[in-house]
Amino acid sequence: MSLRTTGSVLVVFLWSVTGVQVQHNVNQICALKGSSVDLPCPIIKATSAQVTEKVWYITEFCGEPYDLRWDPKYEGRVEYLEEDDCSLRITDLRETDKVTYKFRYKIKNSGWIDGSYGYALTLTELKVQVSVKRLSNTLNCSSTCNLPGTPTYIWYKNGKHLNKRTSSIYSKTVSSQDAGSYYCAVENSLGLHSPAVCVHDSNCWSVTYTKMRMCVLKGSTVNISCTYNHPSSYIEQGSFWYTKKNIVFSSESQYKYHMSYNRKPEKQQHTLTITGLTEKDSDEYRFRLLTNYKGRFSGLPGVILNITDVMLEMDPTSVSEGRRVTLLCRTTCTLDHIPEYIWYKNGTPVTNPFTSYNRLIIDPVNSSDAGRYSCAVGGRDDLRSPEKTLTVKYVSRTRVSVNSSGEIVEGSSVTLTCSSDDANPPVDKYTWYKKTVGGSQCTSYVNTGPQHVFNQVQSSDTAEYYCTSFNKKGTSTSESVPVNVKYKPKNTSLSISASGEIVEGSSLTLTCSSDANPLVENYTWYKKNVTSPKGSGQNYSITNIRSEDSGEYYCEAENKYGHLNSSAVSVDVQYGPRIPSVSVSPSGEIVEGSSVTLTCSSDANPPVNNYTWYKKNIASPKASGQSYNITNFISKDNGEYYWRQTTVMNAFVGVTVFLLVLICFSGFMCFRWKASKSTSDTITRDKADFGQTGRLQSCV
Ligand SMILES: *[C@@H]1O[C@H](CO)[C@@H](O)[C@H](O)[C@H]1NC(C)=O
Ligand SMILES: *[C@@H]1O[C@H](CO)[C@@H](O)[C@H](O)[C@H]1NC(C)=O
Ligand SMILES: *[C@@H]1O[C@H](CO)[C@@H](O)[C@H](O)[C@H]1NC(C)=O
Ligand SMILES: *[C@@H]1O[C@H](CO)[C@@H](O)[C@H](O)[C@H]1NC(C)=O
Ligand SMILES: *[C@@H]1O[C@H](CO)[C@@H](O)[C@H](O)[C@H]1NC(C)=O
Ligand SMILES: *[C@@H]1O[C@H](CO)[C@@H](O)[C@H](O)[C@H]1NC(C)=O
Ligand SMILES: *[C@@H]1O[C@H](CO)[C@@H](O)[C@H](O)[C@H]1NC(C)=O
Ligand SMILES: *[C@@H]1O[C@H](CO)[C@@H](O)[C@H](O)[C@H]1NC(C)=O
Ligand SMILES: *[C@@H]1O[C@H](CO)[C@@H](O)[C@H](O)[C@H]1NC(C)=O
Ligand SMILES: *[C@@H]1O[C@H](CO)[C@@H](O)[C@H](O)[C@H]1NC(C)=O
Ligand SMILES: *[C@@H]1O[C@H](CO)[C@@H](O)[C@H](O)[C@H]1NC(C)=O
Ligand SMILES: *[C@@H]1O[C@H](CO)[C@@H](O)[C@H](O)[C@H]1NC(C)=O
Repeated sequence: MSLRTTGSVLVVFLWSVTGVQVQHNVNQICALKGSSVDLPCPIIKATSAQVTEKVWYITEFCGEPYDLRWDPKYEGRVEYLEEDDCSLRITDLRETDKVTYKFRYKIKNSGWIDGSYGYALTLTELKVQVSVKRLSNTLNCSSTCNLPGTPTYIWYKNGKHLNKRTSSIYSKTVSSQDAGSYYCAVENSLGLHSPAVCVHDSNCWSVTYTKMRMCVLKGSTVNISCTYNHPSSYIEQGSFWYTKKNIVFSSESQYKYHMSYNRKPEKQQHTLTITGLTEKDSDEYRFRLLTNYKGRFSGLPGVILNITDVMLEMDPTSVSEGRRVTLLCRTTCTLDHIPEYIWYKNGTPVTNPFTSYNRLIIDPVNSSDAGRYSCAVGGRDDLRSPEKTLTVKYVSRTRVSVNSSGEIVEGSSVTLTCSSDDANPPVDKYTWYKKTVGGSQCTSYVNTGPQHVFNQVQSSDTAEYYCTSFNKKGTSTSESVPVNVKYKPKNTSLSISASGEIVEGSSLTLTCSSDANPLVENYTWYKKNVTSPKGSGQNYSITNIRSEDSGEYYCEAENKYGHLNSSAVSVDVQYGPRIPSVSVSPSGEIVEGSSVTLTCSSDANPPVNNYTWYKKNIASPKASGQSYNITNFISKDNGEYYWRQTTVMNAFVGVTVFLLVLICFSGFMCFRWKASKSTSDTITRDKADFGQTGRLQSCV
């Protein structure tokens, strides 16, 4: 199984002590190798309530200080002291601890406060320096750096406590009567002492362990070794290993089945091997040498053996999708060799090959990350940590799916499905919500099933839909999913924009509108009784409109799903009276006393509705109406007539009709009217045709 490539990200931490920055406020501190050291907390200029985090670190990770307590090189060896929850104690100091320890703290609503405060640690070992002065020697318990405070020195001879001093110099000079093995220690350093030095003797009592502290994984094998010495006047007669409570292994009998020993008397070397270690084997192991003359000597303090398990820490163990989980693979003590780590999920390795990181970060967590996790260290995959279960809360697990593959067209069937397949425990109720696009109001459909079906989807169903599923653990709401119902144009309508009446010469815009999804792509304009389209585009404009433009117009709206015509709108162009024509009836000669009818006709829109007749040089109208009847025509009626019309346009046109009167003086003479030839034409004629009396009046 390889690392997942999508979804969560594996973040790893490099154990690097390089790149320690120059600190301005770095103090030097010296401590004994194997002992412990306390690094005091600096003065924090904030109340404890304001301080949210305090951390000692040597490296940074993504700009964040990496807490020493998570570092496998310090497993089981660091703690923040209870008294101020801030000072750092490092125990069982070793060579690799000689680095600079930095401190930072965080204040509420603020970042890290970096006072460049820290400690550079140096380590030293105690050593008995012997200065020979004639027959007596002076002993000095020396170290390469100054231990903090004023240490108290303790002296031992042949393993027995002699005295305590605040000076590093042994109280007396050592003469040949005081021959023996001497070593020194510093108070409160866990019994750590210098190697023994034989004074005035080439061989003296001593036991030196190869390692004072050992941290070993459960189930494995350990060799606890020492070299020893005794005065040459004694003969070795036996030895054993013991703890505070028991003799665990003696040269006479194998005390415990899983122990063996390897004695090399010629090299004065002894090794206790313990196989199949269990936590019960954690103890302090001491070697005791037995000789003739009841000589005996113990190596004190002994070797502290810690047997550790592998443990997995998971923080948090229950997490919502999208959050972050940190897994730490831990031991209770610092292993000699920082191992490689193997991570398992549901019993299968997650990382391959082994990683040298004790931290596995899953970020963001995905529901597929839920499972049982454990870890092991390289070479000991039999020794897996107890499993920890990661529970992923199905927060965004619920989702809506629309079963339509492509576009949703009005009238089709659409099914929305709310799925919470992985929900655990199962969903027992669903609620659907409709969120109107662009609006905030929600419509809910409570307690419906996992599906929401539209048998014939309507354009009004266009909205965003989401669902909430309920199970015994809680609710989970999906993201909203848009449902966009497509439909052909509907309700195509046409509007006219014109100010007031449409009169000749003005301009006009027709606008076509239609409800369609997607929006109408093409508009086509038609005029009734005209086959070819008049135009396209949403607007159709006619400038300088003429009476011929009158007619019924309609438009067609079209999108990819269909088209729809608007109802027709009639455009009625109004215009004033055209120059009229007058007819005289009867035509031909008019006899005095007969009747004459003058009829006027003129084209206008709306039609002329008011005609008024005048006789020339007479101000008052003679008559009204389209026709003017003169009954019993006599000569005095002779004259010029014209009509005047009134329309809504308030325009009028006048024309003169004149009558030619012929008077016959003989008895059989007759009156003869002669209408001016083709009176109806007069208007268009030049007045010269009518002689002096011809007359044409035009519009006012
Ligand atoms: C004892 O050893 C220390 C070094 O650890 C040295 O500074 C000091 O002078 C020595 N004292 C004597 C008396 O030699
Ligand atoms: C212990 O010592 C034996 C003999 O020297 C050696 O073979 C073995 O590898 C050692 N075991 C460990 C764990 O150091
Ligand atoms: C290691 O073992 C010693 C002795 O049994 C015990 O006091 C100590 O707490 C142990 N340390 C750890 C880190 O387990
Ligand atoms: C979770 O991860 C799996 C596999 O890596 C992936 O198929 C799935 O889409 C992811 N789920 C989410 C909610 O990201
Ligand atoms: C969607 O589901 C409904 C009911 O199950 C079905 O009638 C319809 O054909 C489906 N439509 C598509 C596009 O799959
Ligand atoms: C058609 O459109 C008009 C104007 O936009 C609107 O007043 C009318 O309600 C619509 N009719 C229908 C059935 O949608
Ligand atoms: C269109 O033609 C029909 C007959 O051809 C006629 O009855 C109708 O009045 C005409 N409509 C227009 C607007 O001219
Ligand atoms: C149509 O005319 C209206 C005003 O009458 C104008 O607001 C609109 O932008 C025009 N549309 C087009 C496509 O020219
Ligand atoms: C709109 O008109 C253009 C040009 O005439 C044409 O290519 C296109 O197919 C038309 N669109 C529709 C939806 O009819
Ligand atoms: C709309 O009018 C055009 C032109 O008269 C015609 O070809 C078309 O069939 C009409 N469309 C509908 C939907 O009636
Ligand atoms: C016709 O015109 C005359 C004079 O302008 C007016 O008095 C009369 O009311 C009008 N009649 C009609 C029907 O418009
Ligand atoms: C004028 O005379 C004609 C024919 O004699 C008649 O039809 C018409 O109604 C008369 N008109 C008026 C206004 O009297």
